[in-house]
Amino acid sequence: MSKLKNPPVPFLSLSAQFKKLQQEWLHSIATVGANGSFILGPNVAAFEAEFAAYIGTKAAVALANGTDALILSLRALGIGAGDEVITTPFTFFASAEAINHVGARPVFVDIDERSFNIDPEQVEPAITNRTKAILPVHIFGCPTNMNAIKKLAQSSNLKIVEDCAQACGAKVDDARVGAWGTIGTFSFYPTKVLGCYGDGGMVTTDDLELVARLNKLRNHSAVQPFIHDAIGYNSRLDEIQAALLRIKLRDIAEVIARRRHLAALYEECFADTCVAVPSESAGVTHVFNLYTVRVPRRYRVQQRLQEARIGFSICYPQPLHLQPVYQYLGYRCGDLPRSELAAEQCISLPIYPDMLAEQVEIVCKVVKSAL
Ligand SMILES: Cc1ncc(COP(=O)(O)O)c(C=O)c1O
Repeated sequence: MSKLKNPPVPFLSLSAQFKKLQQEWLHSIATVGANGSFILGPNVAAFEAEFAAYIGTKAAVALANGTDALILSLRALGIGAGDEVITTPFTFFASAEAINHVGARPVFVDIDERSFNIDPEQVEPAITNRTKAILPVHIFGCPTNMNAIKKLAQSSNLKIVEDCAQACGAKVDDARVGAWGTIGTFSFYPTKVLGCYGDGGMVTTDDLELVARLNKLRNHSAVQPFIHDAIGYNSRLDEIQAALLRIKLRDIAEVIARRRHLAALYEECFADTCVAVPSESAGVTHVFNLYTVRVPRRYRVQQRLQEARIGFSICYPQPLHLQPVYQYLGYRCGDLPRSELAAEQCISLPIYPDMLAEQVEIVCKVVKSAL
């Protein structure tokens, strides 16, 4: 066992946040119950309007989760069999899984080593006459270079589906992610910057035709009660989660400020060490859904953290192009070296709004002791 005698630090704790808003949420659940409108009711409609206003799009459509947000977006854009979608291999599986769900083929290109996001310079050579869309993922809460992605999409007539699951509230210049692409997709999984107490998702867009398609798709493609003109989904955010998300959206600026403050503390503590901390390029606002650093000899850092009972996560241990499920695509080890190196070196350290400055110090002390 380690000689370090620090108190344990969880990777994530949401209990303090729950205590703060529990009364208000319980009251809102009682109101939902009393109204008796449980599916696609007034809280969902109000939350869609509030969320669209926050992101800066004309509309938002609430769905059951962030994976469905990706799948239904691709479906609404008419992407399917025979089409290619260019994306990053350094992301959670759902980003690419959604491409397969609509019958299209994911095309992986390498990442920028500082932001861990898709490198726009790698996108252009991957465009073929089958390419229909670029699917950038704002990984860990760090926005992709959307100015460059937008230019590429415009010049090649491609759609952009922004996967904003980890980056609610993040900005490029003055515009939030989710307002840059043809469509933006969000997850309200509990660990997200804006998380609910279950599953939830959202799509944002300025295209009202897409909104109409998404509204239909999420409700079994019903054109009127019990009449269906296509195969759809049951993918609706429920009223109780919408009521909670409306409460939490009010405080999102404070939550992001707190995450950014903790990230700044980490950065200060890791100054003059070989820990490569997350970078924020000019004009970009990172929301630090995850605090992911690169370290040499990661196994030693993992071991020390385990001994000191400090939570961590390896996001992500294997890039998607090398996953067993994607063997059929024919990628080999060494094809996307920056993603492969990131998978070997990255470790995500604890960060959540109620984490204390002293806890950041403890985590840094333990990490440094392993280097
Ligand atoms: C980058 C990314 N995309 C998509 C998703 C899928 O979201 P959900 O879990 O709400 O389906 C996640 C969830 O972790 C994610 O991190």
